[in-house]
Amino acid sequence: MSLEKKDDYDHKGWMKTKDLTPVETTFLTVLIWLDKRLRIVDYLELMETLYYRVNLQMPKSHTEQYNLDNKFWYWYPLYTLGLFSTLSYIVAAVSGALLGFYYSPAQGNPEEATVAYNSIAFIMQDLQFGFMLRSIHRWSAQVMVAAVFLHMLRVYFTGSYKEPRELNWILGIILISLTMVFGYTGYLLPWDQLAFWAGQIGVEMSLSIPLAGEWAAQLLFGGFTLSQATLQRMYIIHVFLLPFVVTTLIAIHIGIVWVQGIAEPH
Ligand code: HEM
Repeated sequence: MSLEKKDDYDHKGWMKTKDLTPVETTFLTVLIWLDKRLRIVDYLELMETLYYRVNLQMPKSHTEQYNLDNKFWYWYPLYTLGLFSTLSYIVAAVSGALLGFYYSPAQGNPEEATVAYNSIAFIMQDLQFGFMLRSIHRWSAQVMVAAVFLHMLRVYFTGSYKEPRELNWILGIILISLTMVFGYTGYLLPWDQLAFWAGQIGVEMSLSIPLAGEWAAQLLFGGFTLSQATLQRMYIIHVFLLPFVVTTLIAIHIGIVWVQGIAEPH
C-alpha cells in the first residue's frame, strides 16, 4: 500500500470518511444505525442472493437461448393485453377504495329508497367529482373484463398455454372467473332495479343446481329472496374477499411469467 493510500485509512484500518459526499455519509450513518439494531445488512444480503436466484429464469426463451437479434415479436400489440388487464385492475381497485368512503351496503327502512341506493345518488349528484369517480370505476371494470378475455384469446391463439405454461393457464381460468364474480357482485351494490333483478336471476340459477341448490342460495344470497343479507354478502365478497384473492393470484400469475419468460408464438 502506498503512503498516499495509507492516509486514507485510520489506525483501525477503517476508511476515513473525509472524501465521502454528504449523501454517502448520511446513507452510511443510517445504514450502520439500522444495522446495529436490526441486523439489516444480513437481510439485505439475503435479498440480494434471492434476487439472483429468482433471476435464473427457466427455460430461457428461444430468442435469448440462441441470442437472436429478431425480437420483433416482443412488440406484437396483443402481447400487451395482460399488462392492460393489470392496469385496469389497479385503476378499478384505487377508484373502488375511494368509492368505499361514501358507499354504504344498507337497506334501511323498507318503505323508503334504500341507504345503498341513496349513497350512490349522493355520489352521483352531490359529491365533488363523484360521478367521475363512479364512471372511472365502472369503465375500468368493464375494460378489465374485455382485456382479460382478449388476453386469453391471445394466449390461446399463440399456443402459449402449452408446456411448461399449463399452470398459468389454469390460474388464468380462475382469474377470469373471479373477474366475472367481481363484476356481478359490484353490479348488485347500487341496489337499483337492475341490481335487484340480476340478484333474482342469481338466486334462481343457484336454486337450479341439483342437490346443492338450496344450500348454495343460502350461502351466496342469504336466502331464497333478496334481502339485507344478500346485499351484505355481495359487499363483503366485492370489497374484502376478492381484492385480496385476485391481487395475490395476479401477483403469482405475473411471477410465473417472470420466471418462465414469455412464450414465443408457436
Ligand atoms: C386478471 C386477469 C389476468 C391478468 C392481470 C393477467 C396478466 C398477465 C400478464 C401481464 C402476462 C404477461 C404476458 C402478456 O401480457 O401477454 C400474462 C401471461 C399469461 N397469461 Fe395472463 N392474465 C390474466 C388472465 C389470464 C387468463 C384468463 C388466462 C387464460 C386462461 C391467462 C393465461 C396466461 C398465460 C398462459 C400466460 C403466459 C403467456 C406467455 O408466456 O406468452 N391469463 N398474464
